[in-house]
Amino acid sequence: MKFFIDTANLGEIKEAQELGVLDGVTTNPSLMAKEGITGEKNIINHYKAICEIVDGDVSAEVIATDFDGMIMEGEALAALHPQIVVKLPMIAEGIKACKYFSGKGIKTNVTLVFSSGQALLAAKAGAAYVSPFLGRLDDVSTDGLHLISEIKQVFDNYSFETQILSASVRHTMHVVNCAKIGSDVMTGPLSSIKGLLKHPLTDNGLAQFLADYNKGNN
Ligand code: E4P
Repeated sequence: MKFFIDTANLGEIKEAQELGVLDGVTTNPSLMAKEGITGEKNIINHYKAICEIVDGDVSAEVIATDFDGMIMEGEALAALHPQIVVKLPMIAEGIKACKYFSGKGIKTNVTLVFSSGQALLAAKAGAAYVSPFLGRLDDVSTDGLHLISEIKQVFDNYSFETQILSASVRHTMHVVNCAKIGSDVMTGPLSSIKGLLKHPLTDNGLAQFLADYNKGNN
């Protein structure tokens, strides 16, 4: 399973990249605003800075909600860097734009997906990635992981090439369960990746090994 980090924070992106397990980055307008990145020029420069840190795909979201606007913005974003994936909202205009971009060989990520029917539409339109938001479903007492399983079944039935990008991941168990289901990618905060390192038996075991080694050196 690929690990994407869901942030616009350059420090966190660098830390995940240095860990050696980072496959890409997802951003959205809220994550940009959280880092104080506003205004078209600053946002564009920020995407370029992210692409210089990571080797993999970087999702850049369009703001327009009409077809022509999405095409104009998406083409400009895609031209910024070969790693840019155009992120489109799961609405009718977004699906039309997805079809347009897939026809041009430009990778897309259809976002704000909350049902397997929406995922199926995005796959038929040629999306490179579909982003079901599992954490936001959990927030409204609906099983987000169940949606990931359903989409996996639908995509496997027809061998769609669209990758399931499990988004809105909040913690380590989301990551582990996405991997068990067979999600192609997960995107989450740095804490959801670093949390996978933790086990007290690892820490205790290492402390014991070091203590025993040092006995021999005294
Ligand atoms: C990623 O593409 C999404 O924008 C993101 O995962 C949403 O996460 P949130 O529900 O934690 O805001």
